[in-house]
Amino acid sequence: MAVNMKGKSLVSINDLTLEEINQIFDLSKTLKEKQLTGEPHKILEGKTLGMIFSKPSTRTRISFQTGIYQLGGLGMYFGPNDLQLGKSENIHDTAKVLSRYLNGIMIRTFSHQDVIDLAKYASIPVINGLTDLLHPCQVLTDLFTILEKKGKLRGLKMAYLGDGNNMAHSLLHGCSKVGMDLTLATPSNYKPDEEIVKNSMENAKKMGSKIEIITDPVEAVKDADIIYTDVWASMGQEAEAEERRKHFVRYQVNPGLVKHAKEDYIFMHCLPAHRGDEVVDEVIDSTNSVVFDEAENRLHVQKAIMALVM
Ligand code: CP
Ligand code: NVA
Repeated sequence: MAVNMKGKSLVSINDLTLEEINQIFDLSKTLKEKQLTGEPHKILEGKTLGMIFSKPSTRTRISFQTGIYQLGGLGMYFGPNDLQLGKSENIHDTAKVLSRYLNGIMIRTFSHQDVIDLAKYASIPVINGLTDLLHPCQVLTDLFTILEKKGKLRGLKMAYLGDGNNMAHSLLHGCSKVGMDLTLATPSNYKPDEEIVKNSMENAKKMGSKIEIITDPVEAVKDADIIYTDVWASMGQEAEAEERRKHFVRYQVNPGLVKHAKEDYIFMHCLPAHRGDEVVDEVIDSTNSVVFDEAENRLHVQKAIMALVM
């Protein structure tokens, strides 16, 4: 039986049940097939999605706007200087007002608390399009992509290399919820959030899988089915890039490192990639790399999310 997700916000993957996650994957597959065969699927005709961006974006903005259009609805983009949000109008009032016009809100911003508050005060679903803490839409897409490539999620091992950032946090939530093993290798002063690690270890235990937080990149990629990396300096941390580079050099995903993974490993990256830093051309452009399928799948998975919650 389908789970009713109408009106539900997606702030964190940790708020979703395994049943809901599987439902998102099933609908993503159906909508992807419909899109690729040209079968109309205007499930959200007449509905409007507000898209609030306080940070730049290529994939998130274009995939949400195209996605809502393909579903028969309208996407409205609001840039960093367009709304009163958090400046001359508080989140509470903004949430109430937007709820009177729109059917859903997608937001990308710095403070995760702002997204929690927006979802709390809005009477329409709020979808997290990235905060400093989490990037749930990206990780749901990544898991869907792994399912397409490997035919399963349970029993696989992912190695994540680099910064204990928003991507690392959502991968912890996502992998532990679906029962995938995850080893994160980060420099000791760039570890992920302790609460998120603790919570994910509990989730993993229930699913019979394993979460490890280590510092050795070679040990992490040993026998991995998936190697994942992300930028060393995220949006908003540009001034730290030089300093961070010194700590992260040995976490670069290059041919010397990937040879420790399984032969049929897949390479993943949420993009944008800083080629020559966290990954080199020989890996990201290799036949093991699925980064552009990942980028495409943002469209299909987010359409499924919108169709389910709006
Ligand atoms: N991966 C991702 O979210 O890309 P954008 O920052 O371009 O949206
Ligand atoms: N960690 C990166 C992810 C970009 C999609 C950032 O926050 O900039």
